[in-house]
Amino acid sequence: MVKRNACVFISGSGTNLKALIKSSREYNFPIKINYIISDTKGAKGLKLAKLYKIPFRILNLSKLISLESVSRELHKKNISLICLAGYMKILNKQFINKFKKKIINIHPSLLPKYKGLNTFKRVLKNKEKLTGCTIHYVNNKLDSGKIILKKRVFIESNDTEETLKTKVQAKEHCAYSESIINIFR
Ligand code: GRF
Repeated sequence: MVKRNACVFISGSGTNLKALIKSSREYNFPIKINYIISDTKGAKGLKLAKLYKIPFRILNLSKLISLESVSRELHKKNISLICLAGYMKILNKQFINKFKKKIINIHPSLLPKYKGLNTFKRVLKNKEKLTGCTIHYVNNKLDSGKIILKKRVFIESNDTEETLKTKVQAKEHCAYSESIINIFR
């Protein structure tokens, strides 16, 4: 099968990146990951880039030109899909418009509920019984683009932020790959 080129943006531990790399090595998976971008030099996820010999770039966002040059680079590499996987910076309008309908994000709540940060803390504070994760297209509003897939997680009375994070992330690791299969189906 001819696989599309994809790039994953990370900032931290990269557990979703790991799951995506694993899926992308399967014969029938629609993408291959040929570029990883991190805005953090020490991002744990970069170890995976090295381990799997995937080219990577660390962004110096203090330089205004960097997203311009990134988008040129991604076009050159013929990237069909950009997966944000724990990428903690907000992409600018110009960049998003250049890759319309090609940028997707994974968020640890059942959107449109709990956009933004600290989702587990807020979910527990509100005594929710249900949460989960959402994969959605990225548009110019935070966590608001068209939803591709959601997965639910039930909240137990003894759940803490940590246990909830573990449960939600376990769902995320399957959901991200599933949503990419849906996109290219
Ligand atoms: C995930 O929980 C994702 O929903 C959020 O950031 C976290 C990234 O985790 N956007 P990891 O770096 O993939 O482990």
